[in-house]
Amino acid sequence: MTVGPAIDDLHFSQEPDVDEVPGPKSNELLERQRNVDSNAVAYPRRVPIALDEAKGATIRDADGNTFLDFFAGIGVLNVGHSNPYVLDAVKSQLDDVAHTIDFPTEARIDLIDKLREIAPGGLQGSSNVVFGGPSGSDAIEGSIKLAKHNTGRQGVLAFEGAYHGTTAGALSLTAGKKYKKGYSPLLADAVHVPYPDPEGTEDGISVERALDAVQRKFEDPYGGHESPAGIWAEPIQGEGGINVPPQGFLQGLRDIADDNDALLVIDEIQTGFGRTGEWFASDHYDVTPDAITMAKALGGSGLPIGGVLYHEKFDTWGPGGHVGTFRGNAPAMIGGIRAIDYIESHDLLSHATELGEYIRGRFAELAETTPEIADVRGKGLFVGVEFVDEDGAPADDLVEAIQTRCYENGVLVWSAGRHGNVLRLIPPLVLTEQQAEVGTNIICDAIDSSTN
Ligand SMILES: Cc1ncc(COP(=O)(O)O)c(C=O)c1O
Repeated sequence: MTVGPAIDDLHFSQEPDVDEVPGPKSNELLERQRNVDSNAVAYPRRVPIALDEAKGATIRDADGNTFLDFFAGIGVLNVGHSNPYVLDAVKSQLDDVAHTIDFPTEARIDLIDKLREIAPGGLQGSSNVVFGGPSGSDAIEGSIKLAKHNTGRQGVLAFEGAYHGTTAGALSLTAGKKYKKGYSPLLADAVHVPYPDPEGTEDGISVERALDAVQRKFEDPYGGHESPAGIWAEPIQGEGGINVPPQGFLQGLRDIADDNDALLVIDEIQTGFGRTGEWFASDHYDVTPDAITMAKALGGSGLPIGGVLYHEKFDTWGPGGHVGTFRGNAPAMIGGIRAIDYIESHDLLSHATELGEYIRGRFAELAETTPEIADVRGKGLFVGVEFVDEDGAPADDLVEAIQTRCYENGVLVWSAGRHGNVLRLIPPLVLTEQQAEVGTNIICDAIDSSTN
């Protein structure tokens, strides 16, 4: 017996249905937004639609155009928009009690139990979870405090290409200069070292070189900084360009953290909850982190919730050691439980693995006749396609042109990469085979027409 509807029944349709976009109602709302909303608004500049409704892996705009959603609210809607199995429980919890600070509720304790069950490696059954503020950045802040509190040290180490969020501590770990410009100084003693390039990259940064740089920050007496309290790493870099590190990297980080009494914090905010075909991307590398940060898909329905799951030996802080008013969003908690149940019951980890292989296979085939495709990579439904120009330089304009053509033909895609030259595909895990095929056809056509 499976729970909730079959994945085929979650969507408006299996194919997009788009007239000329943006339509008049979208244009009107976009214009109203430009007049009153912040200049910081970013997404509608690239994908100019006003949203009306969304179901499964489909989105309907204010003019009734239906799109296939290949970015899932940037990795939030793993079980699809408005999944009824999730929403029924969320709505009923909302009627009962919504805001619970950190008083016990069934939703809270059941969610923690579930997270302890699906946690990577040795964290299973021997971990605790702390909820703080509701965003991924808040989870990262919590993990920084956890590492400092447990080691008595201040420094933090992260990687070039990293994205960990935008609050002061998280922003210190984020590597993108555009996010930091004008806001320094942030945390003192935050260092960034190279992240290894994906397997097979010519003249790339090897695992050995990356690990050597990390080790020197801890062990070189003239390394330039106090030994860090922890190492923060995305198991696959998302914003950085869907960079899949070769085997050996996470294990090497594990060893260095152990040798230096530092915490290994793996940021699973974008990679968690089945995105890569395992519950957490750490599982691909058989490494047990000391802590994982979670947000995005954790709440199941898009309601915000963030948290840190860490080994119980680090649960050394006292009452109030890490707090936040919005640490008890019960509807998001029950949504998280339902989403995990739905993923389990519909075997979406295998489904994500299979569809991801199919989609990457299609782009790899296209790459044979498209020299602008420099690389196709990822795991599960975390897919990156890297583009270069005829001189081998990053082709961010090309990615933007492809994105626009996809949008005009009914598929919403996003970009990534240090230079914005990677097409990032992170559809809901409930994407059907037919949607994967139709969507990939449209993306391949957009690549063809933008490169010829
Ligand atoms: C790996 C990773 N960490 C942290 C964050 C920050 O999360 P939030 O935007 O919810 O603060 C993100 C957001 O994209 C992310 O991808």
